[in-house]
Amino acid sequence: MAEFTLPKNSVVKQGKHFAAPANAKNVRTVSVYRYDPDSGENPRVDHYDIDLDDCGPMVLDALIKIKSDIDPSLTFRRSCREGICGSCSMNIDGKNALACTTAISDVDGEIKIYPLPHQPIIKDLVSDLTNFYAQYASVEPWMKTDTPFPPDSERLQSPEDRELLDGLYECILCACCSTSCPSYWWNSDRYLGPAALLNAYRWIIDSRDEATGERLDELEDPFKLYRCHTIMNCADVCPKGLNPAKAIGEIKKLLVERTM
Ligand code: SF4
Ligand code: SF4
Ligand code: FES
Repeated sequence: MAEFTLPKNSVVKQGKHFAAPANAKNVRTVSVYRYDPDSGENPRVDHYDIDLDDCGPMVLDALIKIKSDIDPSLTFRRSCREGICGSCSMNIDGKNALACTTAISDVDGEIKIYPLPHQPIIKDLVSDLTNFYAQYASVEPWMKTDTPFPPDSERLQSPEDRELLDGLYECILCACCSTSCPSYWWNSDRYLGPAALLNAYRWIIDSRDEATGERLDELEDPFKLYRCHTIMNCADVCPKGLNPAKAIGEIKKLLVERTM
């Protein structure tokens, strides 16, 4: 039977408050979801008052400042710091985003930070993306060919065919789209979600790939593909400006076309 209240151990409690230094003049509060499954304690939200005059401009800078200067127990992922690795994805001010490309000045008032929605939590802002990556692997995101490699050149592509990959190859697998998709929240065990489907389409449309039919066969499934109801959250949050909903629509179109 559906359960409409949170289990007792999931209720988010008020956490600690860390005040800014007495001489700080430009203070902002950063409220961060904290959870350590090993502790047996409920999740909580801790509040950190930070001095923006002594902090870099991005939300990731604020998190690094908290970890370095205030509370080393805070856990989050980050690597490149320039929107390329996709590891600092989280929910900032109610919207999935990359912490390293979200400016503090773009958030009004208190900065509320939660992990990506509807994923198991490993600790604090680190969600478990095992299922997300397994779904990506399931679309076999590499070139498949049967014909022999040309003896004296690479597998060539016309400029027009290469252009078809624009808006697809730039995906950094941050999971902002899939974890903002209501259909994915409720069916992530069977619906592949916008990120995996955008990457599936990237290979379906690649003129050099020779497994288009098999790839479409794999996706012709009421759950894997057809749980997308064009709600468009995915395109709204993608930090690279991609449109997974459009890619999903193109796959559906190809499936219809091949029956005609
Ligand atoms: S358009 Fe489809 S994939 Fe994108 S958020 Fe909506 S249901 Fe999910
Ligand atoms: S499509 Fe955009 S939001 Fe989705 S995983 Fe790729 S880069 Fe991230
Ligand atoms: S740290 Fe790499 S995308 Fe933010």
